[in-house]
This record gives sequence, C-alpha cells and structure tokens, in this order.
Amino acid sequence: MNQARGLRQMVDREAGRPDPTPGLSEGIPRVIAVTSGKGGVGKTNIAGNLAIAFRRMGKRVLILDADLGLANLDIIFGLTIEHNIKHVISGEKSLSDVLVRGPEGICIIPAGSGMQDLAELTGGQKLDLLSEFDRVDDSFDIFLIDTCAGISSNVTYFNIAAGERIVVVTPEPTSITDAYALIKVLYTKHGTNTYKILVNMTTGPREAEFVYRNLSNAVDRFLGNVSMDYVGFIPTDANFGKAVRKQQPIIGLYPETAASKSITEIGKQIIESSNKDVCDGNIKFFWKKIIGFY
Ligand SMILES: Nc1ncnc2c1ncn2[C@@H]1O[C@H](COP(=O)(O)OP(=O)(O)O)[C@@H](O)[C@H]1O
Ligand SMILES: [Mg+2]
Repeated sequence: MNQARGLRQMVDREAGRPDPTPGLSEGIPRVIAVTSGKGGVGKTNIAGNLAIAFRRMGKRVLILDADLGLANLDIIFGLTIEHNIKHVISGEKSLSDVLVRGPEGICIIPAGSGMQDLAELTGGQKLDLLSEFDRVDDSFDIFLIDTCAGISSNVTYFNIAAGERIVVVTPEPTSITDAYALIKVLYTKHGTNTYKILVNMTTGPREAEFVYRNLSNAVDRFLGNVSMDYVGFIPTDANFGKAVRKQQPIIGLYPETAASKSITEIGKQIIESSNKDVCDGNIKFFWKKIIGFY
C-alpha cells in the first residue's frame, strides 16, 4: 500500500467511515489560518477545539502547529511530540511519520522552529518537500494553521498563503488595534482582502458585535475594499482554564458549557459558508507559496 493511501485510510477509519476509493478526494481541502494581532487571545485553544468541532461534522482535519515555541497544541492536549517538520525538511522523516494524532482523531503537524530551515533548502529539496505535502492533499478536508501573533514575516506568509483567515480578537482595545494593524499589513502589502472575524473572551453577543463593528468600521474607513465576515463569539468561560489544566479539549470535557456550544456553532457556520472566494485552497498550493517565500 502506498504511503498516501495508508494515511488516508487511517484518517477515515478514525472518522468512522469506510475506506474511500483510492485517490478519490471529496473536493479541494480548505486551508484556514487562525491568527491574531495580539498574543494570548485564544488562537491555539480555538484552533484545537474548532478542529474537533469540524471532526464531529465528519471532516478530516489536519492542524499545523506553526507557533514557534510557545504554549502549543501538544501542551494543551497533553501530546508527546518526538519529531517536527524539521525532520521532514531534512529528509530524515516522512510527513506521515511526524503527524501526531490528537483527541477525536484530529491530526497535528508540529512545526516549531523547523520552519526556519526552509530558508536553507536547495531547489531539489524544495521539490521533494512539496511532493511530501502532495501526498496528504486528498487525506484531509480542512487544514488549519495555528499561527503566532503579530506581523512578523513568518505570520504574514501563513496568512497570505492560506485560502481563508480567522482573525481572533478580544474586547481589549490593544487586541482590536493589533488586529487592525495585522489586516492593514496583509491588505496594503499583499492585497489579502477577505477575513473572518471571531470575537473571543467576551461577555456576550452585544459586546462581541460592538468589537466587530469597531474593527470593521476602522477597516472600511481607512483600508477600503476588504471583506470582514463576522463568524461569531466565544464567551469568557472558566472551563477553558480547567480543560487546559487537564490537558483536554473543552469541547470534549465540557460539551455543554457556553464556550463549547459557541465553538460548535462557529464550526457549523464555517462549514456551511460558501468558500467561493477560495480558489487556491489546497494544501500543496499553500506549501508551494510558503516555500516560495523563503
Ligand atoms: N473564551 C475563553 N475564556 C476563558 N479563557 C480563555 C478563553 N479563550 C482562551 N482562554 C485562555 O487564554 C489563554 C491563552 O489562550 P491561547 O489559546 O494559548 O492563546 P494564543 O494561542 O492566542 O496565544 C489560555 O490560558 C486559555 O485557556
Ligand atoms: Mg498559541
């Protein structure tokens, strides 16, 4: 059995569905970056739990843990990481060797500081790496990227290479101004003009809409042709902290809590939303762009 088919069958078995016809993809995978201007706004927790929400809708989900060295998915979900993308780049491991299985069958690629090694690759090594990613392209329906915060080139690359972006913002004024600064850089320097806005750590829908309006009014006024799509809010919920301390996803541990219900709703909305503006949503194309930046 070839490697790609083996991986696909593993993912499908865990999704509780029969092995598909080899090579038959369900469509172009959606590549979605979860990002923010300011750190500590909940990106990693949202990416991890949203991945599980998508999984419960029958989607096969891969997350790239692209934050460099901060409290990451492996910590919040209590996973043991032995290898990361560095080992794929160096040719020591294949992509399926470094994939880690998370709760409810989500798959995670630990990236860590390995991404910096991309700058050292020769043309031939870049092609080898691309063919590794080509192998997983039809094994997943959704590829989520948990980015670090800010406007460094690293974050910028992930955001412009992804087909869709979820910008996580909280009601803190600094979080709103930093989200604006991120969108401004992505739009003015790279022409990236579609964003999904998720308001986290809020008291409820009124505050969340206020935050969204604040941000989208500033973008409308000073930047112009940018689509800002509100995808919902997640309330401040003490169960997040409890779940992190138990190293389990809140959506698994406390499915009935307000934050878990919000995440499930947001997941449904994203899946149902048309991605007609996403013409470049496949995983290989994403990597081609990323590798091209280095
Ligand atoms: N809705 C929420 N309610 C309460 N705490 C939250 C919420 N969202 C995230 N947190 C907490 O905020 C902290 C930062 O979250 P994290 O996902 O690591 O953010 P980031 O990845 O953006 O740096 C964590 O301790 C997490 O448990
Ligand atoms: Mg994080």
